[in-house]
Amino acid sequence: MKSLLFSRFLLLLPWVLIVIIVLDIDSSRAPLPARAPRGGAAGSGEPRSAAARPPPQRRPEAALPTIYAITPTYSRPVQKAELTRLANTFRQVARLHWILVEDAAARSELVTRFVAGAGLPCTHLHVPTPRRYKRPGLPRATEQRNAGLAWLRQRHQHLPPPQPGVLFFADDDNTYSLELFQEMRTTRKVSVWPVGLVGGRRYERPVVENGKVVGWYTGWRADRPFAIDMAGFAVSLQVILSHPKAVFKRRGSQPGMQESDFLKQITTVEELEPKANNCTKVLVWHTRTEKVNLANEPKYHLDTVTIEV
Ligand SMILES: *[C@@H]1O[C@H](CO)[C@@H](O)[C@H](O)[C@H]1NC(C)=O
Repeated sequence: MKSLLFSRFLLLLPWVLIVIIVLDIDSSRAPLPARAPRGGAAGSGEPRSAAARPPPQRRPEAALPTIYAITPTYSRPVQKAELTRLANTFRQVARLHWILVEDAAARSELVTRFVAGAGLPCTHLHVPTPRRYKRPGLPRATEQRNAGLAWLRQRHQHLPPPQPGVLFFADDDNTYSLELFQEMRTTRKVSVWPVGLVGGRRYERPVVENGKVVGWYTGWRADRPFAIDMAGFAVSLQVILSHPKAVFKRRGSQPGMQESDFLKQITTVEELEPKANNCTKVLVWHTRTEKVNLANEPKYHLDTVTIEV
């Protein structure tokens, strides 16, 4: 009896092994067609064959709205350090597209090289600030932010319906918590949140009652319709596209009124969506890098090599 069982087992064993091997080959082959486009041009949108299984972990990310960060930047000793800090943050954010706009007549070598090695999707633009606007007391980076807006509108004008997206203005010296990106990603029209270390206070914030913005906690001109810093709001791509004329204005804009003048064109205070736990958490800081001391920098190049800093 025992030997009969054993011989049956031996007879079945090869067949079982063959079935296992065939199943194994089948399952290791199946994902191959799906993997191919992933390695190629990222997000090229080429249609996948219906038979190919979509990799499950990609699904939720693909549905995420893209976050567009518009960063005006200009040449100065700390520029590369600031951009490096920012890239280190942005690289950790899914589906972030960085729009870097240089205040320059041409793209600089430094920023071009930086963008090439940044390790995240970047668009590198440039527009010089007219000389007459380069005076203290005048708003800065107006032309650069508008160039970013123009690029965004142009890119999407032939792509109806617009892909879900969220835009915010990321000055290159601020400090961003990763949590901020989770908050802003769900922006439906215009969202707002507190900003730390700004306006001569530890923080400024929209005052929220029953889930609605009803005023502003700020140390400076609380009478502004939107008393908020550039780092304190995000706008959905849909709103940017449906208000094609909304830009930052030079003419008639008083210093410090840039944000308010812009937001007036696209939304109302009642419509604002408070983020960061009804505007009770600081997730972005208006940090300022100390002016570097270059007192001992030689007038003429003395070193044996030329180093980009
Ligand atoms: C914000 O406040 C509203 C109204 O009081 C409340 O319903 C909502 O849950 C709050 N949101 C958060 C994230 O705490």
